[in-house]
Amino acid sequence: MFSAILALLFVASSASSPIDFPRLIVRQDIETPINASLPNVTILATGGTIASKGSTNTQTTGYSIGLGVQDLIEAVPEILNISNIAGYQVSNVGSGSINETISLALAHIISKELAKDEVSGVVITHGTDTLEETAFFMNLAINSSKPVVCVGAMRPSTALSADGPLNLYQAVTLAISPNAKGRGAMITLNDRIGSAFYTTKNNANSIDTFYSMEAGQLGFFINQVPFFFYEPAVPIGHTSFDLTNVNDLAQVDILYAHQDMDPGLVNASIAGGADGLVIAGVGAGGTSSKFAVAMEEAYNATGIPIVSSHRSADGFVPGDEGDFTIASGFYNPQKARILLQLALSTGMGYDDIKGIFAKSYPSPSA
Ligand SMILES: *[C@@H]1O[C@H](CO)[C@@H](O)[C@H](O)[C@H]1NC(C)=O
Ligand SMILES: *[C@@H]1O[C@H](CO)[C@@H](O)[C@H](O)[C@H]1NC(C)=O
Ligand SMILES: *[C@@H]1O[C@H](CO)[C@@H](O)[C@H](O)[C@H]1NC(C)=O
Ligand SMILES: *[C@@H]1O[C@H](CO)[C@@H](O)[C@H](O)[C@H]1NC(C)=O
Ligand SMILES: *[C@@H]1O[C@H](CO)[C@@H](O)[C@H](O)[C@H]1NC(C)=O
Ligand SMILES: *[C@@H]1O[C@H](CO)[C@@H](O)[C@H](O)[C@H]1NC(C)=O
Ligand SMILES: *[C@@H]1O[C@H](CO)[C@@H](O)[C@H](O)[C@H]1NC(C)=O
Repeated sequence: MFSAILALLFVASSASSPIDFPRLIVRQDIETPINASLPNVTILATGGTIASKGSTNTQTTGYSIGLGVQDLIEAVPEILNISNIAGYQVSNVGSGSINETISLALAHIISKELAKDEVSGVVITHGTDTLEETAFFMNLAINSSKPVVCVGAMRPSTALSADGPLNLYQAVTLAISPNAKGRGAMITLNDRIGSAFYTTKNNANSIDTFYSMEAGQLGFFINQVPFFFYEPAVPIGHTSFDLTNVNDLAQVDILYAHQDMDPGLVNASIAGGADGLVIAGVGAGGTSSKFAVAMEEAYNATGIPIVSSHRSADGFVPGDEGDFTIASGFYNPQKARILLQLALSTGMGYDDIKGIFAKSYPSPSA
């Protein structure tokens, strides 16, 4: 069996990241040197279904996480024929448990890896549930034209027709593709390549879950070769944050609007330490009139930024001159939360924050 000859070398990390992770070099054989004519890719493993095992090959719910970065590569030895792989085991959790420690560690490690001339790109393996949040975070935090590819799986590694191995192979293919440069962070699953800016998880269970409705896909895999529909570009409104000296993040809560929404939630969030709020509003950012008063009182009392987003799966919230809330434009609540969080964490004030949201959608007078 191939796995018998896989060897893992632990190389002391020279980088000082918030958490010290060893850089692991995955090779086919400890005697075999790295093949210098192949591109180098760094995989950052965080957990998720792609790293999970069920008790039978028909089990596709209720499985548990247990595979490390080396196991992921062992399942797809073809990857070592197209690249040299270094790995970091940053966490091994379901993506509902990804937190600021992990996101910041990813951003710091990736920035250092991509600064190395010999590294062509990075791949993050991640649970799918919040993959779009981590992808969007990296899109804002990584200032490099090299590919940052986020990948996961909807079926555990033990399942019939597990999707993880091919998704991972395609992710590495994307990370080494010269055509993938200059497109921001990307999400790839089920043959699709999407921008981290717009791609969202659409189905809780189906393997065909990641796509972007209005903005569309960046590309598609044809016989495992990435094909892009357009030349490289970054989305309108993209903001880049320098997180070099940021070691903890502001707290931003999302409040979900609905009929009879409790206006007390605004104060409860602020009392719980929120530095900013995102409202998953009804329609294009609406709430009840009582809730709107509670928001305005809270804004008057504290000045904290409150972003109006939409609970509908798609669409945008238009800006309104003089409104105390900040319109999210096309950002869905979970992406608006990341953008607000990084803006607050890098010390931006209210007007600048309003400005970075406003540049992603047409102004009302345009
Ligand atoms: C190194 O990679 C190149 C390019 O794919 C290949 O032609 C060559 O056979 C590889 N060398 C070894 C020792 O595997
Ligand atoms: C991969 O890394 C090796 C070792 O650092 C280096 O010699 C080689 O040039 C790199 N490959 C590419 C394509 O940059
Ligand atoms: C890797 O490439 C070699 C040479 O082309 C081939 O013999 C081998 O089967 C390949 N291994 C895998 C796992 O694809
Ligand atoms: C984030 O999760 C990791 C892994 O479970 C844990 O080590 C770390 O303490 C957590 N950070 C926070 C701020 O809770
Ligand atoms: C990104 O990098 C460019 C050039 O490498 C630099 O001019 C710019 O200030 C950087 N942006 C951030 C937010 O670090
Ligand atoms: C929220 O707190 C403010 C300031 O303490 C108070 O004036 C306001 O009535 C509270 N709002 C609600 C809805 O409880
Ligand atoms: C918030 O402050 C503005 C400006 O002072 C004022 O016009 C408005 O009535 C206040 N809103 C609430 C709900 O207290």
